[in-house]
Amino acid sequence: MREEAPYGGATQNLKRVRTRHFANAKKNGIKITGLTSYDQLTARIFDEAGIDFLLVGDSAGNNVFGYETTLPVTVDELIPLVRAVAGAASRAFVIADMPFGSYEANTRDAVHTAIRMMKETGAHAVKLEGGIRSADQIRHIVDAGIPVMAHIGFTPQSEHQLGGHVIQGRGAGEDQLLADAKAVEEAGAFAVVLEMVPADAAAKVTAALSIPTISVGAGPHCDGQLLVWTDWAGLTQGRIPKFVKQYAQIGQTLRDAATAWKSDVENGEYPGPENSY
Ligand code: KIV
Repeated sequence: MREEAPYGGATQNLKRVRTRHFANAKKNGIKITGLTSYDQLTARIFDEAGIDFLLVGDSAGNNVFGYETTLPVTVDELIPLVRAVAGAASRAFVIADMPFGSYEANTRDAVHTAIRMMKETGAHAVKLEGGIRSADQIRHIVDAGIPVMAHIGFTPQSEHQLGGHVIQGRGAGEDQLLADAKAVEEAGAFAVVLEMVPADAAAKVTAALSIPTISVGAGPHCDGQLLVWTDWAGLTQGRIPKFVKQYAQIGQTLRDAATAWKSDVENGEYPGPENSY
């Protein structure tokens, strides 16, 4: 998200990305970039690279804790990760995901979790899944002074109800997607993630909303793009979704480094005189 001359300042002059910069970016047709992050090392690197927002997603369930799905992740597990990311990012907007079970039952739970996330981590916003079904929760959290990023289309916390990792918003599903998008906008969300949605449907939603749409596998017409960093950087083992373009092969680099180091230790080549006191 580059703030260019017509509406004030260059990227490097932005001290902190705010919700208004998301709105400005949509108004001015400037793409928004986001990556997940779960630790201070990657948060610092992505922040320095100028990534606009960092999502401490409940994908930490798979990528940090090794669970099969995001469902087991708890608020207490996510809080230290969000705190590490928020502490390391000096410019990026940091968003804390609301784990499964922490907001669905009622608006009181939702506001309680959102307040914990903000108070105990230093995040700048929260994200939760669901369109019409989560609109009341979004409204109450926003009324408490907390920005909310909504998340519709394929919502991983409902993967068992949705029948697995299935593309949403196809055929008749397009009307539902649009209704969900309108509901979260009306409830006060400042942006909405569209996950695994056909590009045409995402384009219609993007045109119909005044808040930015952020694509996770929703094609090129959205106002921004978000990827899970471990998929994008080649660290994830196993199946990578089609919508991910890999920009590095960190997993292979680490594997090669570990193999070389083991061999050097075993052959007496490490540590050398330059590594010894
Ligand atoms: O948890 C996560 O990383 C997410 C993104 C995939 C949107 O929710």
